[in-house]
Formats: sequence, structure tokens, C-alpha cells
Amino acid sequence: MSESIVRALKCRECGHEYEIQPTHVCEFCFGPLEVVYDYDKLDGKFTRELIESRPQNMWRYKELLPIDGEPKVGANNGFTPLIKADRLAKALGVKELYIKIDSVCYPTLSFKDRVVSVALSKAVEFGFKTVACASTGNLAGSVAANAAAAGLESYVFIPEDLEQGKVLGAAIFGTNIISIRGQYDDVNRLCSEVAGKYGWAFVNVNVRPFYAEGSKTLGYEVMEQLGWKAPKHVVVPMASGSLCTKIDKSIKEFIQLGLVEDNQTAMYGAQATGCSPITKSVKDDTDMIHPVKANTIAKSLAIGNPADGYYANKVMKESGGYAEDVSDEEIIDAMKLLAETEGIFAETAGGVTLGCAKKLIDSGKIPRDESIVLCITGNGLKTQEAVLNEVAKPRIINASLKEFDVLAAADGVK
Ligand SMILES: Cc1ncc(COP(=O)(O)O)c(C=O)c1O
Ligand SMILES: [Zn+2]
Repeated sequence: MSESIVRALKCRECGHEYEIQPTHVCEFCFGPLEVVYDYDKLDGKFTRELIESRPQNMWRYKELLPIDGEPKVGANNGFTPLIKADRLAKALGVKELYIKIDSVCYPTLSFKDRVVSVALSKAVEFGFKTVACASTGNLAGSVAANAAAAGLESYVFIPEDLEQGKVLGAAIFGTNIISIRGQYDDVNRLCSEVAGKYGWAFVNVNVRPFYAEGSKTLGYEVMEQLGWKAPKHVVVPMASGSLCTKIDKSIKEFIQLGLVEDNQTAMYGAQATGCSPITKSVKDDTDMIHPVKANTIAKSLAIGNPADGYYANKVMKESGGYAEDVSDEEIIDAMKLLAETEGIFAETAGGVTLGCAKKLIDSGKIPRDESIVLCITGNGLKTQEAVLNEVAKPRIINASLKEFDVLAAADGVK
């Protein structure tokens, strides 16, 4: 069973359906297009046993992804550990806590390898030779790496103030890296114009409907790794808000296909206070998203005008979840807490997720006695600037036992 069950692209606003093609906006109402499927076609043949029999990568769920046949790009991507985080649970005062560790996603250490695998596979199917993206950092690295491995030409566009690890993490793959004087929203605007003019596959512009579906695999994995259970509470970092909506979609699909039971999963979104348009809309109990100028160390989440903000807001409200935001100081504290309790070095976005989870728990929005999943989506080695001056410096001595004895005595070691 590997036949695609994709039906069409469907406008999220007016419902008009389009044939599968590289486009993302409805011609009638300018609403965003989404991939829809004929789930009935699976007819009981997409089972837990079939999925478990397949290699441990994101394509074990390929029937629910918008590609034809086998993936053309990123065949080994995805499938990251889900750990039970007992030491962190104790520190937070909660009973049952899990961490999905996409900070070690293959090949570029962020969940973006999931979305890029689908976008580039589809781009190859459509016949594109050049792929591109507007990025807050992680996407650029992932497009560059996966394009290199697939022999595709790539152009990645980033705001000029990104961390060195993000810039190097794209440039090393020999991509064309374009740094724009401005914020992500300026980069994105330019990319819409470039996409129209140059006819490239922009993963988060004209092939966005396909790209976004890749995020569902994070949710599928969590449910399989929980022993085929839907989680109770999920905390997700938000930039455009897409990941939040797609984890929600993954859970609804598994329930519909009878792979898990409905656990009334509540979705919680996390943003940095310095760029929190989606969180603000939830806290203000409105569905209006007011664009902001970003000012935070969580640069990967710094999207001031989030494309999927409205839909993420809806998912959080309808699922009974909520949204939170944290200051830069709280982000750093949370990065250190995660590292010191669980040995996980997450990027600033991970600090946002944990920092917001802590606030949601302390305020009673997430109950202490129900299970919680935190989505850690990027790696700390790419945002070293954030914590460089926040950790102990190495103490330097000569290679002398006498000198070490002095140091150990000062530490009270016997
Ligand atoms: C590490 C990390 N986590 C989360 C996100 C949020 O993604 P989305 O735009 O789907 O909300 C991003 C986006 O760039 C990211 O880089
Ligand atoms: Zn429409």
C-alpha cells in the first residue's frame, strides 16, 4: 500500500478545490490552500502493524503525505526520540512529562527537515530545478542541505541579523545565501515577488501547502512513541503558527483512521514576548492578529506577521488549550534548566517552549497531574550567542596534578 490518497488543494476559507499544482492562494478569495485527502481510500489498510514494519523515518506515514510514490528528497529524514523527562518533571512539579527531541532531527538538527523533505520531493515531482525559501534560520540550513544532497540548485533568503550558526549552517552546503537588510517579514515579502518572477519552488511560498504537511510527521511520531496514544497536553513553539496547526491535524487524522483514541488533546502555543502576535490574540480572546516588529533573542520564531496565526489561534481555542509568552531572560533560564535536568541543548525556541510550559503549569492552565508533551524543535549549537556569557567559563590550569589538587581542594573535593 503506497498509493497517494491526496484528493486536492482546498481553500481554507471558501472551500474551492484545485488540482494538485505549485500554488498556495485561492483565486477567488485569496484564502490559503491546504492539502486534503480521501481517507476512505485507506480502507483499514493503513494499520499500526504496517507502520511499525517500516524503516524509522518520517516516510513510514507516507500515505498521509502529499507525494506520489517514494520520496525524491530526504528519504532518511525524521524519526527522533521521545523521552520521558522525569528530572525535568520533578523540577516543574508535574507527574508525567515527555520531550520530543527534534533538536537532533536528521540532517540539520531542526524539525524543518520534515517540511523540507516533503516540499523538495514535491518540487522534484513538479519538475523544478531550483528551490528556495524565506527563512528565520533553520529553514535555510535545511533547504540548503537537502537540496545539496538531491543535486538541486538553491537560493535561501534570510534577515541580516541571524546567528552565526544559522548562517554557517546554510552556507556550508554551497547554497546561494542572500541576506536582506530588514526583518523576516521584509524577506518574506521580497520572496513572494521573486517566486512570481523567477519560477522557482519556494518551499514556504508557492509550494507551502505541501511543505506544511511535513510537520504532521512530528505529531504521528509522538502518538506512535506514546504507545499509540494521543497526548493530553502539547506545547509547541510558534513562528508562522503552522507547526501548531499541523500537529493538531495529525492527531485528528490518527483518530479518524482509528490508529489512536480521542484523548481531547489540548494544544498550547509558545512565543517570545518580543514577538508574540499569536499569543497576544489568544490572551486578548480575539481572532485578529496584529502584526508586530520583532525584538527577541528567539530569532527563529521572529515572524511579526504570521501566515497561519489565525488558524493556530483557532486550534488552541477549540482544543481547550492556551498560549503563553516569555522574556529573553526566561528563555535563557529555560534553556539552562532543560540542559541541566535532561542533558538536552536546545536552541532559543526550545527555551521559549519550556519557559512557556512552566508558566502554563504555574498558572494552572496545564494541570500538574496530566501528561504533557514539549516539542523541542531546534539545536542549541546553532544559537550559541544566546548563552555564551550565561555559562561557566573553563578554569585553565597547567597539566600538573599539584595545580588540580589546589582546584579540587577549593571545590571541597576529597
Ligand atoms: C526551531 C523552530 N521551532 C519552531 C518554529 C515554528 O515554526 P512555524 O512557522 O511552523 O510556527 C520554527 C520556525 O522557523 C523554528 O525554526
Ligand atoms: Zn477561497
